[in-house]
Formats: sequence, C-alpha cells, structure tokens
Amino acid sequence: KKSINDLDVAGKRVFVRVDFNVPLDGGHITDDTRIRAALPTIEKLAGAGAKVILASHLGRPKGQVNEDMRLAPVGKRLTELLGKDVRALPESTGDTVKEAVASMQEGDVILLENVRFHAGEEKNDPELAKQFAELADLYVNDAFGAAHRAHASTAGIAEHLPAASGLLMEKELDVLGKALAEPERPFTAIIGGAKVKDKIGVIDHLLDKVDHLLLGGGLSYTFTKAQGHDVGNSLVEEDKIDLAKSFIQKAGEKGVKLHIPTDAVVASEFKADAETRTVSTDSIPEGWMGLDIGPETAAEYADVIRQSKTILWNGPMGVFEMDAFAEGTKKVAEAVAETEGYTIIGGGDSAAAVEKFDLADRMDHVSTGGGASLEFMEGKDLPGVSALDDK
Ligand code: 3PG
Repeated sequence: KKSINDLDVAGKRVFVRVDFNVPLDGGHITDDTRIRAALPTIEKLAGAGAKVILASHLGRPKGQVNEDMRLAPVGKRLTELLGKDVRALPESTGDTVKEAVASMQEGDVILLENVRFHAGEEKNDPELAKQFAELADLYVNDAFGAAHRAHASTAGIAEHLPAASGLLMEKELDVLGKALAEPERPFTAIIGGAKVKDKIGVIDHLLDKVDHLLLGGGLSYTFTKAQGHDVGNSLVEEDKIDLAKSFIQKAGEKGVKLHIPTDAVVASEFKADAETRTVSTDSIPEGWMGLDIGPETAAEYADVIRQSKTILWNGPMGVFEMDAFAEGTKKVAEAVAETEGYTIIGGGDSAAAVEKFDLADRMDHVSTGGGASLEFMEGKDLPGVSALDDK
C-alpha cells in the first residue's frame, strides 16, 4: 500500500476521500473531531503544491439531494481550521465541478458536495467512480471511518487512479493493527454496548487475542443469564444465550479471563429518574432491569485496566447518557485514562463517553471510526483499505 509520502503531488489534482460525517444540529457542527483529524493530510498535500479535491458523505440521504445534509457548514469550519479559503461546491460531479477544478491553483483546497446525493455512491456504480476519477490525477483515501463501505468514492475510484492512503488512515491502521498483532501484555479488551448481536464478531475474534475480556452494558445480561442467573427485566437476547455459553467456554479453552459483571445498578424502569438499587447480578429482583455495572464490578475492572499494558475499549458499561447509570462507564474511563498501558478507544459510543467525561485527551488513540474500527477488530478486510493495495 502506498502512502501519500510516496507520491509526488506538486501541481497534481488529488481526489481525497475524507470522512466528514459529523453531527449537525440545525446547520451547526456539534463535534468537529473528524474534520480536525483530516487536517494533517490536507495540509501536507496542499503544502506540497497539490490541488486538493475533498470528497465526503454526510448522513444517509439515500441517493437524493437533502438540504439538511449539505457539506457547506463543513467547508466553513474547514476554512477556519486551515486558515485559508475552502470553496464548498454545491455538486460533486458535472460541469460546475469540472470548471472549479480547472481553475484551481497549486495548494488550493475545494470541497465537493455530499457524495451520497448520488444513488451510485453506495452502489459503487462504476460510472460514478469514473466521473470522480476524471476530476483528478491521484486518489488518496483518508476516510478510515468509511473504510468498511465499498462505495464509489471509497473503493470504485481506486480502480482508475494511482491510489494511496492518507495520514489518518495510516495512523488508524497502524495503531489498531499493532494492538491486535503484537500487543504488549497483559492485553485487555473492554466490550460493552446494548446488544450481543452487534458484538459477536468482535468478541469471538478478541478471545483469540486478549488476556482479559471485560464485559459490560446491556449485552452482559445475556452472559449473566448464561451463567444461570435470573436477570429480571434486563435486556436479554434469548437466542444468544447458547452463544454466550460458547464464548464462556472458548475463554476457558483459550486461557482468557472473561469478566462478567458481579453487581449492577438496577432500575424500576428505563428512565433517568427511576428508582435505583445496587444488587448482585446473581440476585436481580423480578421486575427490575440492570442499566449499569455496579461499584464492585467497576472497581475490579479498574484494577485489571491499571495492570494492563494494552487496552482496547469498545462500548459503554451502562446507559451513560443518564447520570444515574453513568458511573460504571465513568469509572472505567477514568481507569483507562490513568493506566500506564497503551489505550485505544474504538470509536462510536465509547469515544462519545470519554468525550463526555472530558478524558479524550488522556487516551493514546481515539479512533475516528465507529463501524469501521469495529469491523477491523473483528478481523475483517475493509474494502476502502484493500482498494488501495498495489495492483
Ligand atoms: C460513520 O459515521 O461510522 C461513518 O461515517 C460511516 O457512516 P455510515 O454508517 O452511514 O456508512
């Protein structure tokens, strides 16, 4: 795979796929992390005299123009961050775009409109991929967050142009790849989130790699049930209980210490101001539901985390959006921030959690990918990455 460091970009038109899929609230960007994460690549290319053509998706407009999903606010933010004018175009193909590109000077940066306004983007339509390719001399993919999608601007385009990975893409692949391939041990993974269904692949793959696996979140109650305990009204995936049992068995065979919560904060209903109690997970009362790990579990997890050399975290320990059920996730986040081990936050909700507790700066790496980092941790090939392989 080539890096942008291997390319001679001076005077060249470079089509750069970035992931500017940022949260918007009435046209206002509420978190610009992904824009800032792409700056090193943009600055490097522009500084070397490239004509930088940025392309991204935003939201899921389903192949149609959607006024609420235009990239203009991103162009504005980018102009501020780069300290130079970034022209945001109202389209991503066609004559307006061709003319804008033709008038670019070395070091200029333009931003194409949301590529998902074209139905061909998500279908990886070869015709659309060709139209994107015709705008440029080189292709760079820096959109790690969208690398699990085989779309026209993340995969198809690479068939037409010399392709390379951007600096963010390289860093994400390097950090996550090293952690999985040659972790300093003990290697601990923390897996939380609502459903077992979404984490089957990652739990299975990590059981081949880690020394400790700490479980939390809604998914842990299916494991509690698999241990033979009643879990009251807690979230349980009845059809995944046998799978949970097989994971418990696999952990035993592999010598992995699988930690299942021993206590929980339970509530009378799923509400921020519900009545709560802390109970042992072998005696969750009928009618109550677990919404967070309890203090005993949090303390045990914090201990393991502090003694680990590599820590990978994906998924919150409880309903951290509600204060009454945030403590477990917070305690774990603090332990991850404090440990001397190398810490990786696998994007999505866990990234939002460390952001909420103001601890993001104290992590070694916070991935910009949600689905992409999850698929990477499952050991899957990412189409946006394999498209960059030397042909
Ligand atoms: C993300 O936010 O995870 C990426 O930008 C991918 O978005 P998507 O799930 O809509 O493809």
